[in-house]
Amino acid sequence: MINASDQLPAPETTVAGVVGLGLMGTSITACLLAAGHPVRGVEADGGRRTAAVEKARALLADLEAEGVRLPPLGEVMRRFTVAGDAASLADAAMVFEAVTEDLAAKRAVFAAVEAVVAPDAIIGSNTSAIPISLLQQEMRHPERLVGVHWAEPAHITRFMEVICGDHTDLRHAETIAATARRWRKEPSLLRRDIRGFVTNRIMYAMIREAFYLVETGVATVADVDRSLRNDLGSWITLAGPFRFMDLTGIPAYAKVMEDLLPELCNSTEVPQLVRQVVQSGAQGVANAKGFYDYTPESAKRWEQVFLRFSYDIRRLQQDYPEDVGDRRDGGSS
Ligand SMILES: NC(=O)c1ccc[n+]([C@@H]2O[C@H](COP(=O)([O-])OP(=O)(O)OC[C@H]3O[C@@H](n4cnc5c(N)ncnc54)[C@H](O)[C@@H]3O)[C@@H](O)[C@H]2O)c1
Repeated sequence: MINASDQLPAPETTVAGVVGLGLMGTSITACLLAAGHPVRGVEADGGRRTAAVEKARALLADLEAEGVRLPPLGEVMRRFTVAGDAASLADAAMVFEAVTEDLAAKRAVFAAVEAVVAPDAIIGSNTSAIPISLLQQEMRHPERLVGVHWAEPAHITRFMEVICGDHTDLRHAETIAATARRWRKEPSLLRRDIRGFVTNRIMYAMIREAFYLVETGVATVADVDRSLRNDLGSWITLAGPFRFMDLTGIPAYAKVMEDLLPELCNSTEVPQLVRQVVQSGAQGVANAKGFYDYTPESAKRWEQVFLRFSYDIRRLQQDYPEDVGDRRDGGSS
């Protein structure tokens, strides 16, 4: 068993499994391969199995082009094998599930994985919103299930939330968090299972307020986006809300909260506007239909810009790690 308090074994000797090679599973695979792990991918759909190998290779090539030093690509890709079922995961020390967001589907995956891996192998779930404690309910060894919440594109972002369910052994969560630092993540450890974890709780509170402002005619979609991009967007990569209050003077926030909190939207209904947009068939840039107008070409361009921006932010983030201001040189050297 890998223990957080021991020295972590080298990634080269820590076999990682990834189940579900869709959007996230593929970028998670690229992240793990870039960090040096042998990776066993499992994907139910034959077409996606082939696509995942090509996509992982392309993501790694991008990483290399961005200056991440990797062994020759052919060598890295030889560490990646893909199969249609979980039997190939027998030697995995950690397995990350990234299948469809569905309780029954995820439980079926855990049963299949538990049938083949060692009893102390750690299993991580990339669920966006299903409580980890619920996922643990039918497991043989629920103490080994940890929420491991990646953000897309998982091979680029430094975000990661590691979540304990009711039955998770904290040491497993600590092992994943320690290992994740080797994947160039800055993980947050949540010791208690809570819906939406940290980032989704806060992001959805913000999204609810954004819909409220649009639906009540205060501002357009573009106005809301512009305000947030240019205010929040100019500091959030450096500072979270608490550091930001430290930087800009705490008493004012206490005063504003007195007046503003009672005014904020606290509806528990899904906003009408998002219902309508979904009913119209809009998926966003994926089908060139969303809150904004797109042509197929502009939707494609937005996808590419998003990827380029993720790399630019990643470069900037490397100059501004969590403790940048605690360093004597303030990160300037
Ligand atoms: N997309 C995101 O930005 C994002 C962010 C955070 C978390 N998540 C979560 O990650 C998970 C995966 O999301 P995604 O966007 O990659 O979905 P996706 O639909 O792109 O990929 C899911 C893949 O799992 C495969 N699959 C389904 N059942 C399987 C099984 N039993 N065995 C093997 N493969 C199986 C599907 O064929 C598909 O390729 C979901 O739980 C989602 O909520 C997604």
